[in-house]
Amino acid sequence: MEVRLDGCAGFCFGVKRAVDTVYEQLKKGKTIYTYGPIVHNEEVIRELSEKGVMVLEDVQALEALPSQKNIPQKQNGESAAVIIRAHGVPKSVYAILEKKGLECVDATCPFVKRIHGIVEKESGEGKHIVIVGNPGHPEVEGILGWCRGEAKVLETAEEAEKFVPPAGREICVVSQTTFNYNKFYYIVEIFEKKGYNVSVVNTVCNATEERQRSARALAEEADVMIVIGGRHSSNTKKLYDICSEECAETYFIQTLDDLHLELPKSVRLVGITAGASTPNKLIEEVQNYVRINF
Ligand code: F3S
Repeated sequence: MEVRLDGCAGFCFGVKRAVDTVYEQLKKGKTIYTYGPIVHNEEVIRELSEKGVMVLEDVQALEALPSQKNIPQKQNGESAAVIIRAHGVPKSVYAILEKKGLECVDATCPFVKRIHGIVEKESGEGKHIVIVGNPGHPEVEGILGWCRGEAKVLETAEEAEKFVPPAGREICVVSQTTFNYNKFYYIVEIFEKKGYNVSVVNTVCNATEERQRSARALAEEADVMIVIGGRHSSNTKKLYDICSEECAETYFIQTLDDLHLELPKSVRLVGITAGASTPNKLIEEVQNYVRINF
């Protein structure tokens, strides 16, 4: 029996880079804060918290932090650092960090950073920014915080139909990185049909789509599929749905404890994939378990 791990399983490039950054900074013996949980995975957050990493949940928590000189220093004299996660933050957060003299370790995904640069420049040149994405998502809030003047966030075709740009202003449309590519272009088409003066920058990141495409291809071949991810992770749920469409024996597990497999002899291929916030360690554990026990 073959056990095959999907090449796109688990952390995307940006999240991996951010999590690695936390471990690198920990090695330096600093007092570490992350601005928001570094990744939406309870296991990872618990492990980091056991190592002393503290999560600043919001801007109030950051404001409440003492200035660098008043933060208890570690014995080796190393300082405190605040790590910005892959989603990025509004420009104002950097200003608070600077004011407090706190070291900022910026792990914003370069693809998100690129959007910050675009909206800052384009809004500075007078364009009205439209962000296609989920208004409550931290990445979108971060992007908003780089726009000069007012900007609009919209998520649905209905909202796009209702949207009217300020008179005489050109609009610049960007998207949240995880937004669906087809839906993004559908919204752009609505603006074009309305005759608005639009410049469009496609800022959709294909990591999510690639993971889904790759999981589907593996599920098509597999006799059994195992999907690993958090209970509340919507992208893992989506992976599970895709795999179930192709493979009737698809299992959704959070940890190895959830795996109660009984594999008949006829099973030739077990495929494994994982959501964007599932750590490598867990994926390897599951993979090894299936290899050793079946
Ligand atoms: Fe991940 Fe960065 Fe894309 S965080 S989903 S690689 S934009």
